[in-house]
Amino acid sequence: MKLGRLNHIGVATPDLDASIAFYRDVMGASDITEPFVLESQQVRVCFVNTPNGGTQIELLQPTAPDSAVGKWLEKNLLGGQHHICYEVPDIHVAKAWFESLGKRVLGEPRIGAHGTLIFFVHPKDMGGQLTEIMETPKGH
Ligand code: CO
Repeated sequence: MKLGRLNHIGVATPDLDASIAFYRDVMGASDITEPFVLESQQVRVCFVNTPNGGTQIELLQPTAPDSAVGKWLEKNLLGGQHHICYEVPDIHVAKAWFESLGKRVLGEPRIGAHGTLIFFVHPKDMGGQLTEIMETPKGH
């Protein structure tokens, strides 16, 4: 296992358009990607880019109330930080590493919002932090 860069912080929201307006009008963000639906995670998602290729904010609005993010929002009505995502050079090496330590990997690696393979690790095995592990996009 080799820790890569902090790719993004996942922020859940009950209203994606309101959150986009917040990052634009309150936080001064000038580079926010067009929202799209990521069916595999039942979310509508977009990215707030911070300057100089910095860590992104991933804004997530559930498309179904019984989805993972939908259930999380039931307990966190305003939304807020949902997960953090670290890059790794090899997703399969990382999965084997976490499993060898008894960490609960949630599902098989699948294509995430950046088009590369990702998986999540259970927050109870990660100091309370839902953790997304993502293979570094090629060319980065
Ligand atoms: Co994410």
